[in-house]
Amino acid sequence: MTTRRSAKDKIIIFDTTLRDGEQSPGASLNHREKMELAHQLAKMKVDVIEAGFPIASPDDFNAVKAIAETIKGPAICGLARCIDKDIERCGEAVAPAGKSRIHVFLATSAIHRQFKLKKARSEILKQAVASIKYARTFCDDIEFSPEDASRTEPDFLAEMVEAAIDAGAGTINIPDTVGYSIPSEFGSVIARLYDDVPNINDAIISVHCHNDLGLSVSNSLAAVQNGARQVECTINGLGERAGNAALEEVVMALRTRSDQFGKLWTGVKTEKIYQASRMVSSLTGMQVQRNKAIVGANAFAHEAGIHQDGVLKNRETYEIMRPEDIGLEAVELVLGKHSGRHAFRHRLKKMGIDLTAEELEVSYKNFIALADKKKNIYDDDLVMLAREGMESSMPAYVLDYLHVATGTSTVPTATVRLIKGDEVIQDASCGDGPVDAALKTIERITGLNGKLLDFSLQAVTIGKDAMGEVSLRVGFGSDVISAKAASTDIVEAAAKAYLACSNRLLIKQGK
Ligand code: KIV
Ligand code: ZN
Repeated sequence: MTTRRSAKDKIIIFDTTLRDGEQSPGASLNHREKMELAHQLAKMKVDVIEAGFPIASPDDFNAVKAIAETIKGPAICGLARCIDKDIERCGEAVAPAGKSRIHVFLATSAIHRQFKLKKARSEILKQAVASIKYARTFCDDIEFSPEDASRTEPDFLAEMVEAAIDAGAGTINIPDTVGYSIPSEFGSVIARLYDDVPNINDAIISVHCHNDLGLSVSNSLAAVQNGARQVECTINGLGERAGNAALEEVVMALRTRSDQFGKLWTGVKTEKIYQASRMVSSLTGMQVQRNKAIVGANAFAHEAGIHQDGVLKNRETYEIMRPEDIGLEAVELVLGKHSGRHAFRHRLKKMGIDLTAEELEVSYKNFIALADKKKNIYDDDLVMLAREGMESSMPAYVLDYLHVATGTSTVPTATVRLIKGDEVIQDASCGDGPVDAALKTIERITGLNGKLLDFSLQAVTIGKDAMGEVSLRVGFGSDVISAKAASTDIVEAAAKAYLACSNRLLIKQGK
């Protein structure tokens, strides 16, 4: 039996990984990485990509504009405060898109009015209305967010929403900015708007929930059950502080529990979810916890004998989703040392990774070296190799040689040789352990002294020959930078990850 899908039952998926997600400490992406992710989001068929905050920096502006110029399918949205220069910059950045949207926001809660904005309700209402009207002169599709809506007095929120719709906003987004709501309460906020706002049906009601109490997905779903038809979310739940509602959880909950959500549907190609999750984790250096719902390494692993036995007899005894629904099995492929350049490139292309000829050469050379060390090369290995290729074309330090001496009665020492452009620099140092010695030596060469805030090690793929993936978060003064690197040698992986953080810092500083 085929079920008909009607437009009124569609849940619009608004992805803000490139805006709210990228705002999360240590998750910054460079231009190329933003483009790659935008391609992946388009392949996954999200409806709206919030590509950035154009007024924030020239880099943000350029990324939003390039995404608007290149990405076909989803609407491309930029964020703006209710300030004319923000709106102008945003309008300019999103203009090239086939479908463009300007998202303006202004805080409405009493605490924000009193302490942040120092403005009365009437002034805020006036400013929002004027900004929405001004934004409409650049673009027909305007979204308005009363920031901290969930802590705004219900009567003022209703007044604001009515005025915003009258002024021309086609989408009204209700943010739980500080992740304070609980589901029954947040669902009621939405239900009440439907009761109190006379023109509510002239707009789509959207929600944007933060995860400070771990309730962002539950709150989003409660909102959907009360009439919201757009959900703002991010891949892996990336975002400010504890993050935003995770796209994969929202989409898979709607799909898996269609018995509860009736005819509601999303247009997301769920079989692209796993790849998108790996890409975000790899590009930002922010690791996905093993037991993370949907995309964590353990999400489909059945450890207990009794579970394994049940799954073998009938998968549905313990599995509510199939790994292939999120594209997990498609990732299991595999290149080996006999795979040629063409197969290598083809596989990367399928993953949305486009390398220049020079970058491909570097990645392929590393691929052959890796294939000598380990039998099967998985997609996750390929993402790492591609990233090394990309970094080779940046004005960055490249690890050329690493030797560590360590043991129970040896002072750990490391010799490191780095290449930067035409320069070859070598140094040595000792440390508390082999990793410490390697990182200290890198610091001696680069002159960039960082503080290791996080260090974690995970096997990337399966088997004893799996690559060890080191994820680091490093503080360089007030800049916090994350990166990941993988190798079959974990000291080398740590050195490469540290170097990647140093390179990202240099790129950020424009050096
Ligand atoms: O969390 C928030 O309130 C936001 C707004 C800009 C929508 O990110
Ligand atoms: Zn937010």
